Amino acid sequence: MIKIRKFKKGDERKLSYLSRKCIVLINSKDITKKQTVILYKHFTPGQFIKDSKRFNIYVAELNGKVVGTATLDLTLNDNWGRAVFVNPNYHGKGIGRELMNRLESDAKKWGFRSVSLKASPFAVNFYKKLGYKKIKEIVGDVGSMTLMKKQL
Ligand SMILES: CC(C)(COP(=O)(O)OP(=O)(O)OC[C@H]1O[C@@H](n2cnc3c(N)ncnc32)[C@H](O)[C@@H]1OP(=O)(O)O)[C@@H](O)C(=O)NCCC(=O)NCCS
Repeated sequence: MIKIRKFKKGDERKLSYLSRKCIVLINSKDITKKQTVILYKHFTPGQFIKDSKRFNIYVAELNGKVVGTATLDLTLNDNWGRAVFVNPNYHGKGIGRELMNRLESDAKKWGFRSVSLKASPFAVNFYKKLGYKKIKEIVGDVGSMTLMKKQL
């Protein structure tokens, strides 16, 4: 059974591990080695602790095992989905969708009418399935990303 809950202290190592696993096994295929290193270095356990103080971090558990994460940033005018990662061993089981459902319903509760995010090349079609529309392509430090937005 999939359960989505808020981040708690002690999750940071597991979230760092599964994010880095996605970066190395999946996202690295669409970006350079240098960009992979930047991303890998960013997602430390300490970064998750730091982010948990500013943002809403969600954790997905499958039968009690931590398998995914997503972050909702409510600090901007528009609100943003960030750092959506599901352990590659558990892809295609609806975990990413459940994480985004929770993130979107919380954004709605806070009075936001849309969610924006920068999608990795790998995730563009996943977000499309969930109702996100392409706004534009952006090129940054970690390669090209697609700015996408969903009306809630
Ligand atoms: C993108 C990601 C979060 C999706 O997680 P997931 O748990 O496998 O997704 P789900 O099982 O909930 O998929 C929901 C739907 O999207 C589809 N889907 C999932 N990933 C897809 C992809 N890469 N391309 C096309 N469709 C995809 C599924 O088939 C499913 O469709 P269905 O409802 O018709 O069966 C996961 O692949 C991941 O962690 N990727 C690597 C990290 C990454 O790039 N994250 C995004 C950063 S912006």
